[in-house]
Amino acid sequence: MTSRVSPQVIPRVGSSHPAEGRFPLGRGTRVSGPHAETARDLLGLDAGGDGPGEIVLRLVTDPSLGEEGYVLTVAPEEAVIAAAGAAGLRWGVQTLRQLHGPGGVPCGTVRDVPRYAWRGVMIDVARWWRPVSFLRAYVDLLSLHKFNVLHLHLTDDQGWRFEVRGHPRLTEIGAHRAESPAGHAREGRFDGTPHGGFYTQRELRDLVDYAAARGVTVLPEIEFPGHSQAAIAACPWLGHPSATPVEVRTSWGISSHVLNVGDRAAGFARDVLDELSDVFPSRFVHIGGDEVRGDEWATSPEAARRVADAGLAGPAALHGWWGRLLADHLRGLGRRAVAWDDMLDHDPPEDMVIMAWRGVDRIEAALRAGHEVVAAPHTHTYLDYAESDAPGEPVSIAGPLPLETVYGFDAGGAVLGTQAQLWGEYLPTRERLDYNAFPRLCAVAEAAWSSGRDLGDFTRRLTAHLPLLDRLGVRYRRPHDEGA
Ligand code: ACM
Repeated sequence: MTSRVSPQVIPRVGSSHPAEGRFPLGRGTRVSGPHAETARDLLGLDAGGDGPGEIVLRLVTDPSLGEEGYVLTVAPEEAVIAAAGAAGLRWGVQTLRQLHGPGGVPCGTVRDVPRYAWRGVMIDVARWWRPVSFLRAYVDLLSLHKFNVLHLHLTDDQGWRFEVRGHPRLTEIGAHRAESPAGHAREGRFDGTPHGGFYTQRELRDLVDYAAARGVTVLPEIEFPGHSQAAIAACPWLGHPSATPVEVRTSWGISSHVLNVGDRAAGFARDVLDELSDVFPSRFVHIGGDEVRGDEWATSPEAARRVADAGLAGPAALHGWWGRLLADHLRGLGRRAVAWDDMLDHDPPEDMVIMAWRGVDRIEAALRAGHEVVAAPHTHTYLDYAESDAPGEPVSIAGPLPLETVYGFDAGGAVLGTQAQLWGEYLPTRERLDYNAFPRLCAVAEAAWSSGRDLGDFTRRLTAHLPLLDRLGVRYRRPHDEGA
């Protein structure tokens, strides 16, 4: 018999059968089998413990579990996690961790397989640089909720955060801006405070390793050919002649400056992708591709030459020219390009993964065009949007996007997966980001991992989950924060 009330785990587990008794998980609980050390780390257990109880990790051949599924069988003396490999074992451990309550872990069996292979969270580190310790803390939180992709938005008009050894000016100049908006951008006020920071390749490699040990792949994103004002400020030869020198942008919103389409800019892009691919082993690399303002191309003789040479319909088609150039280069590096769905309007190569953000309809459009798709519609997954429009909410870019709407999102059966977006403009600190991220990220986790929806059951589990978030120091938005 399958229990109707699902176990106290977010995202909701597949099927479960309760049994009598409890497994007394404690610091001294032994762990045996493959990847025992990872399990001990995640559970905070001592090495060489002498009980109570034993956690047994076991590799099994069961095609129905896939790469990430697991079976967890909890009995009073022993908790057995069976999976095909490290990923499934790790998710089983995260389930055990969440099930751990007063008096131990309730006995029973859980069989759990993710709905989607891609379960991501995008964090914008371009608008505000964030400490590596912050990123590690988020890796831990992602792993707890069985997310397997941390998408880092590393560059934008307001900052370039990725060390490129062949182009040091990108971080010397591009990682710093003179000031930032104060209050909402439409108020036109500025804080008068310089902001900057970047990540060395070494720091990023360490982050990649840290994340990999927790089942999370770091997906890097570099924005081409728009959202690139910081790069143009650092290397003016990437841009177009401008009456005023281009500086790292200090206001939010989209820059009118885009990369030019000359051979040197193309070579620059290849250099950046080479170094990026060297640091990030991810099979996928995100090349941005959204919100490209083509005005500079429309009046550029160099762009006109490129249009003619490449046999394009007009300057607007240079958006797609950029996309194909980047995707081709990544293919040569053994990687797959991912781009925001704006690229869909510009003849992208078929192997480009489309991240559909402009609306649910873009998911269908990308699938119809034959692409693999990550569903990221702003209507359901942009957690930088305010949760409510009642007075008392902090300044946000848009909204409202209530928890129930996020929870109710169903990306359909044909996509690679889905992910949450945490754009940074109005989330400069850990505290602000936590507030927007949680608890809605719990809802995205469930939309990404679990099949079916039961809002009542989710709400019950979420209420019981919040103390764990408290213990982990997450400054989530409390239910009573509604409106204030
Ligand atoms: C986006 O929100 N511009 C992808």
